[in-house]
This record gives sequence, structure tokens and C-alpha cells, in this order.
Amino acid sequence: MIPFNKATVTELEEQYVIDALHNSKLSGDGKYTMKVYEQLKQRFGFENVLLTTSGTTALEMSALLINLEPGDEVIVPSFTFSSTVNAFMLRGAKPVFCDIRPDTFNLDETLIEGLITEKTKAIYCVDYAGIPCEIDAINEIAKKHGLYVIEDAAQSIGSTYKGRYTGTLAEFSCFSFHETKNYAMGEGGALVMDTDKYMDRAEIIREKGTNRRQVLKGWTDKYTWHDIGSSFLPSDVLAALLYAQLERYDDIMEKRRGIWYRYHELLKPLEEQGKLRRAIVPDHVVHNGHMYNIVLPDDQIRTDLVEYLKQNEIMAYICYVPLHSAPMGLKTGYRPEDCPVTEEYGARVLRLPLYYDMSEEDTELVVKKIGDFYG
Ligand SMILES: Cc1ncc(COP(=O)(O)O)c(C=O)c1O
Repeated sequence: MIPFNKATVTELEEQYVIDALHNSKLSGDGKYTMKVYEQLKQRFGFENVLLTTSGTTALEMSALLINLEPGDEVIVPSFTFSSTVNAFMLRGAKPVFCDIRPDTFNLDETLIEGLITEKTKAIYCVDYAGIPCEIDAINEIAKKHGLYVIEDAAQSIGSTYKGRYTGTLAEFSCFSFHETKNYAMGEGGALVMDTDKYMDRAEIIREKGTNRRQVLKGWTDKYTWHDIGSSFLPSDVLAALLYAQLERYDDIMEKRRGIWYRYHELLKPLEEQGKLRRAIVPDHVVHNGHMYNIVLPDDQIRTDLVEYLKQNEIMAYICYVPLHSAPMGLKTGYRPEDCPVTEEYGARVLRLPLYYDMSEEDTELVVKKIGDFYG
């Protein structure tokens, strides 16, 4: 069976996790969390970063930090995971769904300004499939209109845009280290901020609204309630797992990108025959090999192909059901036709299996079976 994802765990992960169990803290902010911060700083230049319990909670923290309130509007793509939107809807803010580009399936930056009203407070953009969105244009629009930019970089750790790493592109960036991501800690994430001005409050919000972190640092001796917040701090045992993955950074990256490019090469003849469209990566982007997706001629062909691959023990995955036309999206007043490009590609995109241990033969088999499906 070829699963769509399989986490990679070696003796290194085992070693660090066992060490954390005996020699660090079971709760958060222990030795391995600090080592992760050092790695993230050295590798990507993240200065103001906090590990979180998930990519979802990193997004929720960003919504708290920018003080979103009922009545505020947030511009967001509909082609994303529910967490991107739930994060600010939990604060009472309203999603304003913006359509996507047909090449990368990221926010169509040319449509953003037409959606801005006096209530707009932020843009939540997404790096779909590890390919950074058009952040320069998005930042420029945000600056002109005084809006916050939060990049949902859940899938894009290690990708670059015009030579700059994601996590250094927007005011707030939210990463995921979920099992399905390139570098995993089971459940986990990180919030990266482009300035230290939010750090103190972010640490309070992450610790149930208390100043516990400041007490641990010895800055104050009173441990008390300062703000709203929640339990967003992950265990150091999970940080140990992530630290091992980050030590294997180059190997994991090389392997995933290798599989990605092998798919790209093998699928070319099928694209030339008009059977599918291969992934498109803009020239100014270097991606992290997070995901390989193809675009099929229509929804029915995609359904049939998924079924055919399943019969052959290959698990391909229908990516996102667009949020604006999902049951909750319809409740917010949206109709499928409001984001036509999202609606179209939401029905045609298919994500192929891609994971660290995937062999060359497995990659070839997936492509062969797609070819067989078409006869
Ligand atoms: C675009 C996007 N945003 C947010 C998330 C949520 O991340 P997590 O699963 O770590 O909560 C995901 C996870 O798949 C995602 O793909």
C-alpha cells in the first residue's frame, strides 16, 4: 500500500525524546524548545518565534495579538484549511473570501483591493502546497490600507520567495509541525513575528493569560493573570521530536524535493497528452517539496481516478473542499459562484502520495497507474 503520507522517525528522534523524558521537562519551554529556537534562528533567521501546540493555535494567537473583534473583516482565500478562518472567526471577525490564482492556487493579489472596506483589519494569506503566495504585492496593499498581514505558512517551512524564507516575509507567520508536514512533532506549530514588540504579550497569551514565563525568567516574582489566553505551549518532549527532525533538515528536504521533481518529470508525457496539468512553481520561488498536486480535467475524472488508485492500493487525496461553499461557508452567506476559480480548482486538484520514505519505484508506480487509468 502506498499511503498519502507517512512520518519519518529514526533513532535520533527516539534518542532525543527519551532524553527529554528523563532529562528535560515534560511541560513546555525546556531544553529542547530552546534548541529548536536556536535552529530556527540559525537556519531561517527567525528572531521572535514561539512554539505552539499546533499550526491552528499559532493562527489563533495571531488573531488575539492583533485584537480582532466582532465586526472586523478579514480577507482570506477560500482554498485553505478550516483553521485559517476559524482562527479569526473565534474572535467574531468575518471572513471575506478572495478568489485564488489558477497557477499556484494562492490568493489572487489583484482581487484584494476590491474587497477592502472600512471594516477590513487584516489579510490572512496562505502558502498552498509549500509555494509562497505573492507576499510583496500583499504587503504593499496592506501597507497602503493599514492592514495586518498574517501568512499561514503551515505548509511552507524552508520555502523561499525572491530568496527570502517564509517566516521572514510577513508581520506574523504561522507554521505547522503536524505529522503530515515536512518536519513534524506530532501535533505542533510555531508563531513567528517580525518584531519583538508582540513577544511579551504573545508569551502571556500562550500561557493561559498569565505571566508564568516572566516569573520563570526571574523578571518578576508574582505569577498572575494578565490577559486572555489559552493553553498554547507544547510539551518539551514534542520539541525534542522536532529538534531531531530539524537536525535532519537537509536530508528530509533533499528527499522530498527529489520525489517532487521525479513526479514532475514522469508526469510530463501525460500533461502533453492533455490528461492532466502538472504543478506550477513561479520562477521567484524555491519550494520545499511539501506536496505534489495535479489538476484533472473535471470532478468526475478526479473521483474515478481516486477510486482507481485506491483499488490499486495508492492513496491520493482530494485537497481542500473550498471553504466558502462548505456548509459553514454557506452559513456565512457565501455562494459557490462567489469564488469561481476556487470552485473550479477545488473540484479538479488531486494530491499525490509524497513522504520521506517513498521509493523511486513507488513514485514510478503511482505515475504508471495514473497512465493505466487513462488506458
Ligand atoms: C494551510 C493550513 N493552515 C493551517 C493548518 C493547521 O495546522 P495544524 O494541523 O498544525 O493545526 C494546516 C494543516 O494542515 C494547513 O494546511
